[in-house]
Formats: sequence, structure tokens, C-alpha cells
Amino acid sequence: MAVECHLCLLGLIFLSSLLTGTSGVNVTYVFISSGENVSLSCNNALHDCTSTMWLYNKFRHSATVELIGLGKKKKDTERHERLSLGSDCSLNIKNISKEDYGYYTCRQYVNGEQRTDTHVDLHVLHVSSSSSSSSQTEISAGRSVTLFCQLYSFAGGSCDDWICYERIQLFWVNQAGVKLTRSDSRYQILSSSDHCIITLTTTLLNEDHNREWRCEVTHRDQVKSSVTYTVKSSGEKERDLINHVEQVFFVFLVQTVSIVFAVCRIFRKISQTRSNLYC
Ligand SMILES: *[C@@H]1O[C@H](CO)[C@@H](O)[C@H](O)[C@H]1NC(C)=O
Ligand SMILES: *[C@@H]1O[C@H](CO)[C@@H](O)[C@H](O)[C@H]1NC(C)=O
Ligand SMILES: *[C@@H]1O[C@H](CO)[C@@H](O)[C@H](O)[C@H]1NC(C)=O
Repeated sequence: MAVECHLCLLGLIFLSSLLTGTSGVNVTYVFISSGENVSLSCNNALHDCTSTMWLYNKFRHSATVELIGLGKKKKDTERHERLSLGSDCSLNIKNISKEDYGYYTCRQYVNGEQRTDTHVDLHVLHVSSSSSSSSQTEISAGRSVTLFCQLYSFAGGSCDDWICYERIQLFWVNQAGVKLTRSDSRYQILSSSDHCIITLTTTLLNEDHNREWRCEVTHRDQVKSSVTYTVKSSGEKERDLINHVEQVFFVFLVQTVSIVFAVCRIFRKISQTRSNLYC
């Protein structure tokens, strides 16, 4: 308990130092899974977006990157191809990557005067596995697999602060939506709050083919985003291959037999013609 309070305090100090100099700041928390598209709203939308700027900070002390300047996309940013400006001046990001987490600021000017900034704190949920990097895998029964579910956040190295006072939590749930816990002997669930990561380790069974495990992130007890991981057993794939080989062989056999019959018929015709000739 004492440790948690200590962390909360640190978190509050962190947040207030982050927001120094700004009053009545509106920070929206957005949670999204890698691969999805997101639209970050600039609440103070104007009738046109020619004065809109979108700024980005990855870390607390990182240099500010201008993504959109005066309503135009900056070409020199590494991800400019995935960015676009919505008609309401919102920032659209396609195919979110785990590197897109961070602090986004929408700034607008009216008659040369700066309006109140709008801030979006974007958290990205990303799942990877010990056997493959995609959201599904082919693994055989008896093998152990570890799934890592990580929440990438502006807080960077330590997300204790956010977890504590914003009540952000990560869970693994099964297909029925039931939370997997340490007490379930099939699964080993480990979480590390300082890196916002929760891992699931299990030994695969034959019946796990097509089984889904889902990692969820909750903010103040509401599910905000989730990633589903599907197991494809490689045994199933081999069986499919055998079926395929059998089918090909059957077609070959049918064709051979019909060719043999056709040839026989021709020969019979020829020999009949010949015997007619001789007669
Ligand atoms: C914060 O945003 C809400 C709407 O999302 C708005 O009603 C409120 O006025 C904003 N506060 C400030 C200080 O801009
Ligand atoms: C993201 O947007 C693109 C088009 O801009 C669309 O093709 C794709 O299906 C969208 N992806 C998701 C996960 O919605
Ligand atoms: C999305 O990004 C990943 C890399 O982060 C890439 O492998 C994938 O092809 C991209 N998908 C689309 C639809 O562009």
C-alpha cells in the first residue's frame, strides 16, 4: 500500500510538471491496438483547418515534432504517409504501430491569437509471441508459448504512475471473456507494472487449434481496447496437406483409368475394322 501511494504521489508530481504553464488543460486518453486506424479529435474545431497545427512528443523531454503545420502535412516526418487531416481538423493515423504512442497536441489560431490547446495521450496495445510476431501463430501441441501484451505509453520506462491514479489495467481473457488468473494451473500469468506488460505462458494442447486469447486494457474499469491472438496448430496444416495429396492422386487415378479405357476402345475399334477388312 505504502509503495502504491508513493508511486501515486510521484505520478502526480510527474503530471503537474508535465503540464506546468498550462491551465485548464484537456487531456483525452486514447487507447488503440497496433494495426488499427485512429482519429484524434481537435475539440476546438474551426470552420477551416488552415491554422491547425498537430504537435507530437514521444517522451517528456523529447523534441517536439510538428506533424501538421498550418493545415498541411509535413513531408519530412517518418510516418507522414499514414497521416491525414480530417475535415474537422482531427488527426487521422492509419495502421497504428507501437511507435505511435505519445502525447499529441492540437493548436489553433484565430486572428493570430492562439486558442486553448487540445491534448491527446495515445496509448498503443501490442501483442507479440515467443514464436511469431503476428496475431496468430502455427505451433504444435506440447510446445510452450509465451504471449507478451504491452501497453506503450508516453510515460515510457515506467507506467506505475498512470496505472495507479488513472486505474489502467491489463488482462488476458479466454474466448468466453473470463479473466485468466495465476490460480489457473494451465496458465502462467506474469505482469510487470513498471513496463505495462502482461505475459501469458502455456503449453499447447491438441484441442487448442483455433483457440483465442485476448489481451484487454481497461481504464477506470472500462475495456478500451483489445488484441486477439489465435492459435493455429501446425498438425492441422499437415493433415490438410495429406488430404490435398490424396485428392490430387485420386484425380490422377481417375484420369489414367479413363485414358486407358479410351485407348482400349480405340484399339478395339481398330481391330474390329481390321477383322471386317479381312472378312
Ligand atoms: C475540455 O473539453 C470539453 C469537451 O470535450 C469542453 O467542454 C471543455 O470546455 C474543455 N475545457 C477546456 C479548459 O478547454
Ligand atoms: C484502415 O483504413 C484503411 C483505408 O484508409 C482501410 O482499408 C482499412 O481496412 C482500415 N483498417 C482497419 C483495421 O479498420
Ligand atoms: C501495417 O504496418 C505493418 C508494420 O507496422 C506492416 O507490416 C503492414 O503491412 C501494414 N499494413 C497495411 C495495411 O499497410
